Amino acid sequence: MKFFLDTANLEELKAGARWGIIDGVTTNPSLIAKEGVPLEDQIRRICDIIDGDVSAEVIATEADEMVAQGRELAKIHKNVVVKVPLTRDGITACSRLSRDGIRVNVTLCFSAGQALLAAKAGAYFVSPFAGRLDDIGGDGIGLIRDIVQIYKNYGFNTQVLAASLRHTAHVIEAAKAGAHIGTLPYKVIDGMFNHPLTDKGLDQFMKDYAKVFEVSSAAR
Ligand code: E4P
Repeated sequence: MKFFLDTANLEELKAGARWGIIDGVTTNPSLIAKEGVPLEDQIRRICDIIDGDVSAEVIATEADEMVAQGRELAKIHKNVVVKVPLTRDGITACSRLSRDGIRVNVTLCFSAGQALLAAKAGAYFVSPFAGRLDDIGGDGIGLIRDIVQIYKNYGFNTQVLAASLRHTAHVIEAAKAGAHIGTLPYKVIDGMFNHPLTDKGLDQFMKDYAKVFEVSSAAR
């Protein structure tokens, strides 16, 4: 399973990059707006930090405009994946961009039927939003499971990018469901490190060693 960071914040990306386990980045217009830097500039900066796929979403709702913007976004860096919403226009744009060899992430996917449309349009990624579906009483992880199964049945190459993951259990369940990628907010991936038995065990190891070899805490 690949891990993407779901953020446009450069400090979070730098911190994540240090761990050496981040395979890419997803952004959306809300995340870009939070940073107060125009889309193209922020995407360029992100590509300088993370060596992996970086999703950049079009700020348009009409197919021709999405295609034009998508072509410009794809020129920013070889790692840019153009993100379009799962609408009629978005699917039209996805078909056209994909035919031109531009990789597309179809976002705001909330049903298996929509995921089929994205695969038919040649999407590189489809992004089912598990958390937002759970928020309205749906079954986000069940959706991911269904999409993975359907894509397998027909040999679609579109990768399932589990999005809107809100906590560790979501990540584990998305992995069990076979998602190719999970995109995680920084605080979710950071939280995955924590376990009280790890802290307790490490503390004991250090104390036991120090008792015999008198390693000072400053030297550790
Ligand atoms: C994915 O590409 C989206 O940016 C993201 O996962 C949305 O998550 P949210 O529902 O927590 O905003």
